[in-house]
Amino acid sequence: LKAQHVEINGVKYTTNPKICNVTDSIINLTDKALHLKESHPVGILRDLIEKKLIDKSFKTFNNFRPVVTTMENFDSLGFPKDHPGRSKSDTYYINETHLLRTHTSAHELECFQRIKNNIDGSKAGFLISADVYRRDEIDKTHYPVFHQMEGATIWERTEAKDGSKEPTHIVKIRDDIKSVEDQLKKENVKITVSDDTLPLKEDNPKQEYMTDLEVDLCSQHLKRSIELVVSEVFNKKITSMVESKSNDIPKQLKVRWINAYFPWTAPSWEIEVWWQGEWLELCGCGLIRQDVLLKAGYKPSETIGWAFGLGLDRIAMLLFEIPDIRLLWTSDERFLKQFSKGSISSFKPYSKHPGSFRDVAFWLPMDKPDVHQVHENDLMEIIRNIAGDLVESVKLVDDFTHPKTGRKSLCYRINYQSMDRNLTNAEVNALQDTVCSKLVEEYGVRLR
Ligand code: PHE
Repeated sequence: LKAQHVEINGVKYTTNPKICNVTDSIINLTDKALHLKESHPVGILRDLIEKKLIDKSFKTFNNFRPVVTTMENFDSLGFPKDHPGRSKSDTYYINETHLLRTHTSAHELECFQRIKNNIDGSKAGFLISADVYRRDEIDKTHYPVFHQMEGATIWERTEAKDGSKEPTHIVKIRDDIKSVEDQLKKENVKITVSDDTLPLKEDNPKQEYMTDLEVDLCSQHLKRSIELVVSEVFNKKITSMVESKSNDIPKQLKVRWINAYFPWTAPSWEIEVWWQGEWLELCGCGLIRQDVLLKAGYKPSETIGWAFGLGLDRIAMLLFEIPDIRLLWTSDERFLKQFSKGSISSFKPYSKHPGSFRDVAFWLPMDKPDVHQVHENDLMEIIRNIAGDLVESVKLVDDFTHPKTGRKSLCYRINYQSMDRNLTNAEVNALQDTVCSKLVEEYGVRLR
């Protein structure tokens, strides 16, 4: 029987056993706050980006708790009721109304309200860094907890006083763009942007309440601000590559903006960086939809602005050359001792312990198809809960439907491998046995 209560960050929540899918192994991660550790790769990166962006207009919020309401995480941002992100297979729920935030955007509305009510003085923007939670597969780059930094800024709209002059906010945005561009020019790494002038697509339209000029200026300010962050981060990387005499040092950085969709921004984009032969997706962003600003208490057409959400862990892995995302969560001193506040250094592997593969093959139950649907993320969760960070990856290796009976069988290959030590055969077998019996018990599968 599942517990009726869970305690997260010192607060007790009543669970709904039908909905609740947070596990002890996830709850144990809710007080790690890696983004606040100043000598941890995630914390070092957060600090680096904040320093670049922070000026008098941004207020930072780095202590928001991970439990939020469905209202904050989804409804306030205009997620449709049937949006896949809301599903139990993707999101950790405590009960109908509370969940572990899936993104830092869950705090946007609250922060806009703070600006509107002038709680933080004259700040016109904010940066929020926090841990976010998503049920997902298991491999070297996926972990159920990662970190994001949310940024947003707004301008109050004004009317032109006399017909010949531009409204004050237009003048202000032009100045703000100029100041970001000046900073960009000072960066060592030059950014080349391809496709910046892509026309807005029909499915990624401008909002009615903004003029073409406002959309143009706002998005320039947004794009240049993010490019500034990207050039800072990659500049640090390139500098450390020069120091270590690496031989594929790029001289300039290629980035591109692509169209995207988020329910609370329009138009929306993603930025991608060309790095070691592939386009890396770094950050989603867009111009804030008027609905969100209205919910925050602004009058119609009173303000315009932008928001972005940047994933920190993948960038940290790239910067510090960390090959496996589990390392970010280790308490092994051989890892932690390698990093220090404010400095970007390459991780030196201390040893690679061998992995052991085990397959689990099973027939899915036929009798109650609705009851016993095993979602892949459920399987991942079972394995994670039993073996924790001793699993390196889980891959589907066979998917077979019997031609006569229509019965379906799946086979997953689990790689058990510890970051810190050698695992014994007996230990791996015991873990594998537990995984198998749990699958039978919870999902009624038949092992093959
Ligand atoms: N929250 C989005 C994500 O997690 C990123 C985003 C933030 C997009 C702000 C637009 C504006 O993917």
